[in-house]
Amino acid sequence: MPVFFQHQINDTTRLGIWKIEETEEFFKGNVPQHRDVTHPHKRLQHLAGRFLLQFLFPDFPYELIQIADTRKPFLPDEQYHFSISHCGDYAAAIVSKDKRVGIDIEIPVEKISGIMYKFLSAKEHGIFNLIPGTGDNSSANTYQAPTIFWSAKEAVFKWYASGGVDFRRQIQLLKKNPATGTIDCFFSKNDTALTIHYRQFDHLVLAWVMS
Ligand SMILES: CC(C)(COP(=O)(O)OP(=O)(O)OC[C@H]1O[C@@H](n2cnc3c(N)ncnc32)[C@H](O)[C@@H]1OP(=O)(O)O)[C@@H](O)C(=O)NCCC(=O)NCCS
Repeated sequence: MPVFFQHQINDTTRLGIWKIEETEEFFKGNVPQHRDVTHPHKRLQHLAGRFLLQFLFPDFPYELIQIADTRKPFLPDEQYHFSISHCGDYAAAIVSKDKRVGIDIEIPVEKISGIMYKFLSAKEHGIFNLIPGTGDNSSANTYQAPTIFWSAKEAVFKWYASGGVDFRRQIQLLKKNPATGTIDCFFSKNDTALTIHYRQFDHLVLAWVMS
């Protein structure tokens, strides 16, 4: 069973990452496909994400999932809140009985360093010492750190779920706490302080939010 990572966050919220080693047929026998996905690998990712929902909570009612105009999947009666992400051969999901959630996984790639300015403000570049030639940006960590910040903001975007978010201006990352694997964040779109959780694996970064 290719569960790559599992985390029982509390009594009502669970998170999992699945390393996709199955064929499409395996998932298709178990999971309904909720939208047309033409690309075969993306279809596999989509199905694996859905599969994880019931893996985490066996009574998760896949068949009731609807897709909002923003493309966010949801359950109309909110029996569960959930969020899905996929990247490469991995799919991740977080499911909660009582809290809104957002999740993102990313495989760090070098090009992220060149586009940091698109999603990180000048203030964040300063706080996290991401000025070219110094700190994280010049070490072996070159693209790990910005990938964590990108993933963190994507997780907030999914948690918020209503779209129309200015990543640089409205998702403000304030402090990274390596000891707890968290980032303090202020989401100015609805004046909320958030704690974003992150975790680094060998070739994968995970970020999630619950509030
Ligand atoms: C929607 C978005 C978050 C998806 O992220 P991604 O990295 O492309 O893909 P992921 O695999 O991580 O996530 C895809 C899943 O997110 C979920 N999702 C899609 N739209 C969503 C939304 N608006 N809100 C919450 N979840 C959403 C779906 O479950 C989807 O998978 P599925 O269709 O198989 O169910 C992303 O495309 C996006 O729009 N990001 C915002 C970009 C932006 O505004 N950037 C500005 C700063 S540069």
